[in-house]
Amino acid sequence: MGIVVAVDGPSGAGKSSTSRAVATRAKWDYLDTGALYRGATWLAQREKITEPLEIVEALEKFPLTFIANPLSPKLFCADVDITEAIRSQEVTDQVSQVSAFPAVRAQLLEVQQKLISKAERGIVVEGRDIGTVVAPDAALKIFLTADLTARALRREKELESPADALSTEAVGQSLAQRDHLDSTRTTSPLMVAADAITIDSTELSLHETAQRIWELLKERRLLGLPIVALLGRPNVGKSTLVNRFLGRREAIVEDTPGVTRDRVTYECEWNGREFMVMDTGGWEAKPDGISVGVSGIAELAMEEADVLALVIDSQVGALDEDDILVRELRKMKKPIILIANKVDSPVEETQAHALWNLGLGEPQFVSALHGRSSGDLLDKIVKLLPEVGAAQSQDGYRRVALIGRPNVGKSSLLNILAGTTRALVDDVAGTTRDPVDELIELGGSIWRFIDTAGIRKRANQSSGTDYYATLRTQMALERAEVAVVVLDASTPISEQDLRIITMVEEAGKALIIVMNKWDLVDEDRQISLDREIDRHLDVVEWAQRVNLAAKTGWHRDRLAPALRTALTSWEKRIPTSRLNSFLGTLIAATPPPVRGGKQPKILYATQAGIAPPRFVIFTTGFLESSYRRFIERRLREEFGFPGTPLQVSVRVRERE
Ligand code: DC
Repeated sequence: MGIVVAVDGPSGAGKSSTSRAVATRAKWDYLDTGALYRGATWLAQREKITEPLEIVEALEKFPLTFIANPLSPKLFCADVDITEAIRSQEVTDQVSQVSAFPAVRAQLLEVQQKLISKAERGIVVEGRDIGTVVAPDAALKIFLTADLTARALRREKELESPADALSTEAVGQSLAQRDHLDSTRTTSPLMVAADAITIDSTELSLHETAQRIWELLKERRLLGLPIVALLGRPNVGKSTLVNRFLGRREAIVEDTPGVTRDRVTYECEWNGREFMVMDTGGWEAKPDGISVGVSGIAELAMEEADVLALVIDSQVGALDEDDILVRELRKMKKPIILIANKVDSPVEETQAHALWNLGLGEPQFVSALHGRSSGDLLDKIVKLLPEVGAAQSQDGYRRVALIGRPNVGKSSLLNILAGTTRALVDDVAGTTRDPVDELIELGGSIWRFIDTAGIRKRANQSSGTDYYATLRTQMALERAEVAVVVLDASTPISEQDLRIITMVEEAGKALIIVMNKWDLVDEDRQISLDREIDRHLDVVEWAQRVNLAAKTGWHRDRLAPALRTALTSWEKRIPTSRLNSFLGTLIAATPPPVRGGKQPKILYATQAGIAPPRFVIFTTGFLESSYRRFIERRLREEFGFPGTPLQVSVRVRERE
């Protein structure tokens, strides 16, 4: 099953247009669940029935089929195309009643879940109960909302036919009434899922709203990386080519033909573009013995990949098998690149020109072994890559690093959090590394705790070398989105504790500080701890602190809400207009200090990125760091960013 994005929200918030825009861009499927409820309503009206069980029966007799193509979604009832018919005022007026029937919902739930499970790469599903009921495990949940007036205005524009023309107030009333019915019904009412990101689209354009979702998908690495499959007969140098792409020797290269027995994928990067290269076994036209499996693998690779690279040993030239492979490759209707390998000199390049005859366009002459022209080849490949590919490496579980110096109780905390519902998982899908992560359910969601093997191991060898402990923490932090730093509340905050907290801040990750062993904190200790917090933790005042006793489990339920708050802040985006009106007020009240007789002017600001939020302020002159810190403090007061570091930078522009 592919990545599921759930988009819930009230009528007219822009769910359909936004969801379709995102699905189209990602080349994913799209499911409008409201259309299904409308379809059931349409059917009820056609059959002149009102009882829930009658409707269910009718749905069984005349099943609904949704065509999940975001460019032209369609709904059929049996073989009638009702795509247009379900938008009528009659259907709109009744759909909330029909969709409130539990029996109808149960029937349509099945239809929805079947469609979702059929999505290969990904699907954007919009509705009212997607994140809560239909796809509670969705990798990304969006709650899209807007002011009633804005929604009424948008709906009014959609209603084109004069017969449907209603005043904005009337549309608003009908929306409000539907919202009310949809939110108060007993079976799966419209609700915000605990782990949903709320987007208020009142002041956002369709493009901005879709862009915001895209940004989240990208940041959470839910958009698959493109895959380039290297195909060709055995021993043409595919693995050597992979090594060349990787810039280091990792793929197995041996002289025995067909050594790479399986599809193996490696992560590559070229000029800032990330992609996967898939090394396949050789291709044999007439499979025999072990080669049967190998060519099957090549076929699978062709199915899976986004770009197909045919590798030919130019010193041997194209053989009959290659012609057969070319035919197979063409059938895939995917971008193809022809690589003529083992070309070490201009003379050899001239000889290899015969490969034009394969009809695949210009051969790319390279020497994988010596690196000749491999940069040019990578340039060509990168140009062929689609924006979103087939290599999905993340499952959407939020990634948590549990860190802290030895003996603060990390492993007892892990044990009490994990309870018995523990699942060990590989850190990257499709690779064979140690299972080091654990999936742990907390507060109704599943979280990926990173490198827990490290925690469990380190607990036994309490005084492991500092260097490796730091390295391991660093690596866990790199993969994490949020760090839980565990301190021992019963002992003074140490240098090492502070170093770890600084590491989190520098890595730009969200942060939660757990004050563990709270059962050992008496009144005296609490007084000194407060002093230590004032003195040492004031720089990370924004981090939430959770007092907790891992030994007894006291307050362990506080962790999930804290994690959610921190991640929400970490991924937050402030609309440019709001940011600048805030800044305008701030500057008017407290202008930047004069420096060297000149007063720097603040031109405008923008949020350059999320995770963590990064702001850039454009000015005409240097801003003192104290003033920058002042801006950061005011930003936090105004917009609230608990649990995340902020980055505020200044760019000086010449006066125009
Ligand atoms: O999104 P829409 O306006 O086309 O949805 C039509 C109705 O269907 C809406 O008033 C509520 C209902 N609905 C629902 O109950 N659950 C869903 N997942 C989607 C829609």
